[in-house]
Amino acid sequence: MSTATVSDPETRAEELARYQAEHVVGCTKCALAEGRTQVVVGNGDPDADIMFVGEAPGYHEDRQGLPFVGAAGQLLDRLLGEIGLSRADVFVANVLKCRPPGNRDPQPAEISSCEPHLFRQISLVRPKVIGTLGNFATKLLSGRPEGITRVHGCELPIEVAGTQVLLFPLFHPAAALRTPSLEQALREDFAKIPALAATERRPEGPAVPEVMDEGPPAGTSAAEQLGLF
Ligand code: URA
Repeated sequence: MSTATVSDPETRAEELARYQAEHVVGCTKCALAEGRTQVVVGNGDPDADIMFVGEAPGYHEDRQGLPFVGAAGQLLDRLLGEIGLSRADVFVANVLKCRPPGNRDPQPAEISSCEPHLFRQISLVRPKVIGTLGNFATKLLSGRPEGITRVHGCELPIEVAGTQVLLFPLFHPAAALRTPSLEQALREDFAKIPALAATERRPEGPAVPEVMDEGPPAGTSAAEQLGLF
């Protein structure tokens, strides 16, 4: 596949759909495959300027096969509405595509197995801004150990799979539902997103080689190399 075709929005959308259908929907790369109802691939505009990355599907997401459809998702919808956007305007995905049992934290090996799926989604959507929701997405994509309390609302230019993106860490909506002061901070950070998306340029990104389909070559994952865990 040539650079020119991969850069075209329609071709990127087709490649995203193909990749997700062939490599994500039936994924058995980690043990979470055994306990899930279905894979929660992610959804939204495949050519979105803004992408959100959460942690992992919960009970409702696992049942419906869609990201952020429970209480945290309803808060995400409200926050989007307050900045004049809907879910159809953005792309939403998670670090893990399958629900961890009992909603426990993602484990390093699970994140490493799932990481190529998220990286491929990012390199094909090519958003201008990625709002990471909570610690797991923020640490994975920033490659830095600082937690969300320190870095929320800070802009961080990053490169993911050869794609330059502006990272904008946010508190996780589920945490905001538990703690009203976090909800206020999340709302204030959200209010900055439209201006960020308006000033950022859409990343060019390189051609996405087929060899990436199976993830990085054998060895340690990007997350492990960065010493995140
Ligand atoms: N929490 C997440 O991190 N992701 C979801 O999809 C739902 C809840």
